[in-house]
Amino acid sequence: MYVPFARKYRPRFFREVVGQEVPVKVLQNAVKNGKVSHAYLFAGPRGVGKTTIARILAKALNCLNPKEGEPCGECENCLEIDRGSFPDLIEMDAASNRGIDDIRAIKEAVSYTPIKGKFKVYIIDEAHMLTKEAFNALLKTLEEPPPRTVFILCTTEYEKIIPTILSRCQRIIFSRVNEEKVVAYLKNICSQEGIEYEEQALKSIAKASEGCMRDAASLLDQASVFGDGKITHEVVENFLGILSAEKVRDFIKLLLNSKVEEAIRTLRDMYYRGYNLSKFWDLLEEEVRNAILVKSLKDASGVVENPELYKELAQHPLEALLYLENLLTRGRVEARTRPILRAFELAIVKSTIIKDILPISQALKAGMAVPETQPTQDTPEKEHKSEEKIEDKLKELLTPLALKALETAQKEERDGKVVFIMDQDTYSPFKKEFENLQKKIPEIEFEVRKKKEEKENSPSLF
Ligand SMILES: Nc1ncnc2c1ncn2[C@@H]1O[C@H](COP(=O)(O)OP(=O)(O)O)[C@@H](O)[C@H]1O
Ligand SMILES: [Mg+2]
Ligand SMILES: [Zn+2]
Repeated sequence: MYVPFARKYRPRFFREVVGQEVPVKVLQNAVKNGKVSHAYLFAGPRGVGKTTIARILAKALNCLNPKEGEPCGECENCLEIDRGSFPDLIEMDAASNRGIDDIRAIKEAVSYTPIKGKFKVYIIDEAHMLTKEAFNALLKTLEEPPPRTVFILCTTEYEKIIPTILSRCQRIIFSRVNEEKVVAYLKNICSQEGIEYEEQALKSIAKASEGCMRDAASLLDQASVFGDGKITHEVVENFLGILSAEKVRDFIKLLLNSKVEEAIRTLRDMYYRGYNLSKFWDLLEEEVRNAILVKSLKDASGVVENPELYKELAQHPLEALLYLENLLTRGRVEARTRPILRAFELAIVKSTIIKDILPISQALKAGMAVPETQPTQDTPEKEHKSEEKIEDKLKELLTPLALKALETAQKEERDGKVVFIMDQDTYSPFKKEFENLQKKIPEIEFEVRKKKEEKENSPSLF
C-alpha cells in the first residue's frame, strides 16, 4: 500500500523533528525534569508539527523506558501510541466534531485516571473551533486539573482562544520551517526512497511550501509521481506552475531592455501552458527587489542570497529598476479589477520607456545642467560642481519615485531656468514634493499639462 511521504516520514521522536527547536527543547526538558504542565497551547501555522509533537510528548510521558525526555519508541506504550490504539491518548478535532461529544470527552477526563499509562493525554486540534459549551467544560476542567492529565490544545488561530483559557495554558509557539531545513528534510526523504533529484527542484518545492512541512512532503510526493522517480527542476517547475528564478531574471532583462513584444509572447505562452501568473508576478517582484538591493547596497551579501546572480540586472540605472518595481506593483493592483493576463500585459507594455531611463546624474548632464544660484560664466570645473550639488540636493529632497518622475519628464531651459514638463497624472502624486522642491531650488519650474494635449509628446509615467 502506498503511504504518502507526509505520513511515512512523520517524526516519531523529538530528535527527528525539523526546526521547532524551542518547542522541542521546552517540552523535552519538561519531561526530563518531571515538570510537565497540565495544559499546553500549541499555536502556529498548519503543517508545521503541532500534532506530531503533541503525539511525541504523549509518548515521552507514557514511555516505559524514556531517555533524556525522549520516548524509546519500542515499548508497548510507544508502539500503541504510534499505532493509534493507546487508550490514554485521546485526540479530538474540534473542527469536525464540535458538539456534545467533545464536552463529554472533556468531562470524562475529570473522572477517569489513566487506564494503562502514566498520563492521560488529550490532544484537541483546531481548539479555536470548540463550541462555547465545550470551552466552558474545558475551562472548568482546567480550573481544577485532574491529576496525571495533560491537555494539549492546538490552534492555527491563536487570537480566537478566549483569555480565560489562554491564561491557564502554557503557550508554545510554532513557526514556519526555514527553506534550508525543508530542503534538507526533502533530501533525506529522497535518499531513503532512492529517488534521484536535482537540488534546484527541491529548492523550488521548499519555496512553494512556504515553511509548511506537510505541503513540502506532499509536493515531493507529486513530483516523484510526475517525474517518474526522478525529480528534475523542469518537472517541478511544470507541475508547480512556477518558473526558475533564472528564467524570471531573463524575463526581467527583457523588460529592462524594453523588449515588449518578446515579453508579452513569453507571458502568454506561460499563461496558456497553465503557469500560475500570479506566482510568476510574485517572483518577478522578488527578483527586482533583490536587484534593487544589490544595486543600492555596498555589500548585499547577507541581505540577498547570491548577490552575484543580480550583477547583470544591477547594471541598469537604479531609476529604471525602481520604475520597473512600480510597474509590477501597479500591474498587481490592476489585476484585481480585470483579467490577470490583460493586467499584466498592460504593465509590460508600459515598460517601453524603461530602456531610455537614465540615472538622474546623466539626465542632468544631458541638456539640463542646472545653475546653482545665478547664471555666471563658471569655469567648466565649477560648472561640474554645481551640477553635482543640484543632483545631491534633488536626491536629498525627493523620494526615489519623485526623482524618477522628474527624470523621465521633458526638460527645457527657459531664461536660465529648467522647466520640467509633465502631464497631470505624473505630476499630481508628487505635487507636494515638487512644490517643496521649487521653494528650495528656485531655478526649477514645472509645467503641468492636461492629459489630452500631452499624449503624443510625453508619455505618462504610469
Ligand atoms: N517540524 C516537522 N518536522 C518534520 N516533519 C514535519 C514537521 N511538521 C510537520 N511535518 C510533517 O507534516 C505532517 C503534518 O504535520 P502535523 O504535525 O500534523 O502539522 P500541524 O499539526 O502543525 O498541522 C506530518 O505527518 C509530518 O510528516
Ligand atoms: Mg495538526
Ligand atoms: Zn517507550
